Amino acid sequence: MRGVKYPTDVPREDLPPMTEAAAPAIETAFPIPAGVHAETVVSVQHYTDRLFKFRITRPASLRFRSGEFVMIGLPNAAKPLYRAYSIASPSWDEELDFFSIKVADGPLTEHLQKIRPGDMILMRKKPVGTLVNDALVPGTRLWLFATGTGIAPFVSLIRDPETYEKFEKVILCHTCRLRSELEYGFEAVAAARADPLVGEEATAQLVHYATTTRDQSERMGRITDLISSGKLFDDLGAGPIDPAIDRGMICGSIDFLQDAKALLEAAGLTEGANSRPAEFVVEKAFAD
Ligand code: A2P
Repeated sequence: MRGVKYPTDVPREDLPPMTEAAAPAIETAFPIPAGVHAETVVSVQHYTDRLFKFRITRPASLRFRSGEFVMIGLPNAAKPLYRAYSIASPSWDEELDFFSIKVADGPLTEHLQKIRPGDMILMRKKPVGTLVNDALVPGTRLWLFATGTGIAPFVSLIRDPETYEKFEKVILCHTCRLRSELEYGFEAVAAARADPLVGEEATAQLVHYATTTRDQSERMGRITDLISSGKLFDDLGAGPIDPAIDRGMICGSIDFLQDAKALLEAAGLTEGANSRPAEFVVEKAFAD
């Protein structure tokens, strides 16, 4: 089948009828579905055999709140498969970062892990999500609890000035199996501290607490166990979770969400949503 050429930086329905000469262009085996953005991969970085990040062009019309996700797919089928991906860039970034797991037989990631600069990514138009500052009532400390790729929305939030205006302390807790899986988080925290927009705030207000469960490292154990035992608070020299001052966001695997949510509820915090801001919010990280 002859490939179809589409500009990659313009929403499909905003386009005039296609001409063969249009550029920039990527050849695709299938027509681009209506109502999606067709974007170009700018860079790809592989961290481990299970984790990678990719950066794509940003549609000029896209507006999102830090912490939201979009549906991502590939132009490899007449009806592409989409999966939820948190945007790991701040809302003002010129391009969009994503952090992904690689699953050998995962319906999307088995293909997505092979993308290279210049390839096309499809993105549905509406960003959504509950891991946003708006879904939390004001507080003093913001706890960001993530496992694995669940750190992605928080990488967006730690670059957003609003996060530091709303909270005096922002504590990013990230648990992975291996040390190599924590690297992305360390890079993100370093980038936030070096950022001209929020660098000063991130240096003064952001705390990074990274743990491994299967590799030897400086801090070990599931974050849930470290909350239950109180070791997290001892290590940070901080008081225990207190509904008067603490707000939380949780992102990771289903089991982790349930366990972390139970701990915050036991501490007296109430789950919120966009329509009903409260003391903590929860979202599942992309899984396959
Ligand atoms: P563990 O190694 O003890 O299973 P995964 O890569 O499977 O998504 O896991 C990412 C990290 O999340 C791992 O360190 C894993 O620890 C941890 N984890 C998995 N389930 C839970 C849970 N219910 N509560 C806290 N941490 C969890």
